[in-house]
Amino acid sequence: MTLLPTKTLIKTPHGSLTIPACPPDNQTRVQFSLIIPTYNESRNIKDLIVLLTRILDPVLSNNYELIIVDDNSPDRTWEVAQTLTQTYPQVQVMRRQNEKGLSSAVIRGWQAARGDILGVIDADLQHPPEILLKLLNKIQQGADLAVASRHVEGGGVSEWSILRRFLSRGAQLLGLIILPRVVGRVSDPMSGYFMVRRSSIAGPILNPLGYKILLEVIGRGNIENIAEAGYVFQERQEGESKVTWKQYLEYILHLLRLRSRGRIEKLTQRFNFPVGRFVRFGLVGLSGVFVDMSLFYLLSDPSALGWGLTRSKIIAAEVAIINNFLWNDRWTFGDLSSQQRGWGKRLKRLLKFNVICLAGLVLNVLLLNLLFNVFGINRYLANFLAIGLVTLWNFWVNLKLSWRVTEVK
Ligand code: GDD
Ligand code: MN
Repeated sequence: MTLLPTKTLIKTPHGSLTIPACPPDNQTRVQFSLIIPTYNESRNIKDLIVLLTRILDPVLSNNYELIIVDDNSPDRTWEVAQTLTQTYPQVQVMRRQNEKGLSSAVIRGWQAARGDILGVIDADLQHPPEILLKLLNKIQQGADLAVASRHVEGGGVSEWSILRRFLSRGAQLLGLIILPRVVGRVSDPMSGYFMVRRSSIAGPILNPLGYKILLEVIGRGNIENIAEAGYVFQERQEGESKVTWKQYLEYILHLLRLRSRGRIEKLTQRFNFPVGRFVRFGLVGLSGVFVDMSLFYLLSDPSALGWGLTRSKIIAAEVAIINNFLWNDRWTFGDLSSQQRGWGKRLKRLLKFNVICLAGLVLNVLLLNLLFNVFGINRYLANFLAIGLVTLWNFWVNLKLSWRVTEVK
């Protein structure tokens, strides 16, 4: 079999996450574009492409494309994928270096796609490829969105523990409470395996968070008819799931963001104030209070180490600041710090963060005294107000100084 020349990587679209009404740069349209988001899937990607082309070739011949969107995987999945373009002409590869995350990877893939029907499938063979034909059929019969579901006839999960089933159903229940009109429209709102008509999703600015891209499609798209096909979620053979507690938290924030129907986005745009990031900063701050209090107790309480008050307070506050820095660097400002890699830069951010927080501490004491002694406000209300204002100060100054992006590769 003659090898084709290796295809160059396709450009990563940038700017807001909107799906264009027609393919970019007037490229030739195809019927179906399937996005495969990958992070450390070098041992799965080849098997998946073999299976997908074997299933789609007879039905769609060259009228489809497979776009692998890799977030610069440490195991160089993008490189393995690129070699596959020598054998499989439908394969295209996008390597993202400045963005990360499952949902945004899928949308960037859809932005570069040429298909009238846009699909997504996981790369780890937990989503059986043969279901694609059923989903395609449903779209051809008129559905705007066709979802592979674990919770309809023929659906299920293979060897899931009770805990995992409980978490999955619990998340669904929470979704039904917070966002019934979106989550209630499908039997498996957590599904990461579906396809949608381009015309039903083109136009609105998408703004997903975490893993649940389907919620974003139903929540912001123009989706009238939804069809479902049952599938059994397989056990992963190679590699491991990337799901951590972070995804669960992002799921809740995503539900709230969709529920606010863009009110938070409008606020963010009007005041140019990153509300979502501030909420994360606040949550991290709360964890810092917990660290501070528990360490202060362990160090200063007579029943524990019984150290001096000031010494215990300074150590507790410093450990809390380091705790907050690590979570903020990883989560709140994760997208910014990932553009400034290396221990040197991280240490610099930590120092800045430390100085700003210490300045915040001084500001806190000054504000508390002003509100209590000058304005005669109740001491606890004054303390609460001072903490609130200083949190805003800490957030804004750190955003502008500690996580300011100076060099973009
Ligand atoms: N580009 C990119 N960037 N891809 C990612 C990222 C990322 O940050 N994180 C994960 N992926 C890719 C993985 O490589 C895999 O192909 C797919 O997204 C799903 O990731 P898993 O980590 O395997 O997820 P899961 O199996 O635990 O959960 C899946 O199934 C659930 C049930 O249907 C996901 O599809 C969930 O969304 C879904 O709820
Ligand atoms: Mn998986």
